[in-house]
Parts: sequence; C-alpha cells; structure tokens
Amino acid sequence: MTTEETRKFIESGESRLLLSKEEIRNKVRELGKQISKDYAGLCPILIGVLNGSFIFCADLFREISIDCEVDFIKISSYGEGTETSGVIKLKKDIDADLQGRHVIVVEDIVDSGYSINYLRERIERVRPKSLKFVSLLVKEDTARTEYKIDYVGFNIPNRFVVGYGLDFAQKFRNLPAIYVMDEQVQTINSN
Ligand code: IMP
Ligand code: MG
Repeated sequence: MTTEETRKFIESGESRLLLSKEEIRNKVRELGKQISKDYAGLCPILIGVLNGSFIFCADLFREISIDCEVDFIKISSYGEGTETSGVIKLKKDIDADLQGRHVIVVEDIVDSGYSINYLRERIERVRPKSLKFVSLLVKEDTARTEYKIDYVGFNIPNRFVVGYGLDFAQKFRNLPAIYVMDEQVQTINSN
C-alpha cells in the first residue's frame, strides 16, 4: 500500500477516528481562552516542540488574545518506530532569551514523559520567571513524569495516534483529525 492509500484507509474507518476536527478546534479555543486569562499582562512566550506540535502550536497561538511571542525547539526520541528510545536528541535549540520570561512549552502529546522532563530540565537552567506545559494529548497510563501537565487537551488511551501534526515515520501529519494508527495499518504500510 502506498502512503496515499494508507492515508485514505486510516481516514475511512470510523472506529479509528479518535478526535474530530470540531472536537480539536473547540478544545484549542478553550485552552487559548484559559491561557489568555491566566497570562493577561505577562506577555508569555510559547515554545513549540518540533515537529509534532507545529500545527497545534500555530492554532493555539491564534486563539490567544493577549500579547505573546513564539519560538521553537526541535528534539527527537523516536526514530522511525512507535516506541520511545528514551534518549532525547536536541536537533535545534531555542533562539529566544528565556531568562525572566513566562514560558509555556507546547507539546502535541506526552507519552513516556521523557521529552517534557528533558525540556523542563533544559529550560529551568536558563532561569525563566515561570515555566508551564501545555499538551494537546496525554497518554495517561504511561506518563512517567513527577510533574503534572498544566494544561491538558485530552487524556487518551495508550494507543499510537496520527494526524493534526502527529506522525508515523514522518507521514500522516496532514490528516486534519486524530486517528488511532493500529498494528494492522502499520503492518500494511511496511509491506
Ligand atoms: P515521550 O517523550 O515518550 O513523552 O514522547 C513525546 C513525543 O513522542 C511526542 O512529542 C510525539 O512527538 C511523540 N509521540 C508520542 N506518542 C505518539 C503517538 O501516539 N503518535 C505520534 N507521535 C507520538
Ligand atoms: Mg513531539
């Protein structure tokens, strides 16, 4: 099956749809409102975690109605698989000076929690005024982090998901909703 065919196959199955466009849009709006309220007058800086959160970050940014800035960091831990290697690699660092700033890290999904632990440690070193985390999705069963995520979109079951920025081997980020990428689809795609 080509990626294009797999994409159609994922999209066609009702049972694989986890979160619709509307559910995502409403939640992003809600998060934007809450952040605008909590950070009024503080000009926070959002740090999008590439690649996965680029779509969520762009949508969330536009739902924030107060003065705010954005920058990005790129890390990777997965390679081509669906399980974290546990080793985080820094691919692109943050350019902005975060010292004394109100920082909000924007993640697409928290799975093992290794990524956000790494980001917390790295950002705390440059002494921001405050540091919070927002994640569109949290896989509740697996998150191995001693800190809570400050703003959570949806708690989801421990399944591998794609769409709305989330990939499988770099594909399917452009699906407009979020789908479960089950083993069946992964097997077909690797044939
Ligand atoms: P963690 O370090 O295990 O918490 O993984 C976090 C990162 O892995 C996320 O920012 C995603 O980029 C990626 N990831 C984790 N679970 C999934 C998934 O179900 N689908 C796609 N990417 C995922
Ligand atoms: Mg990510």
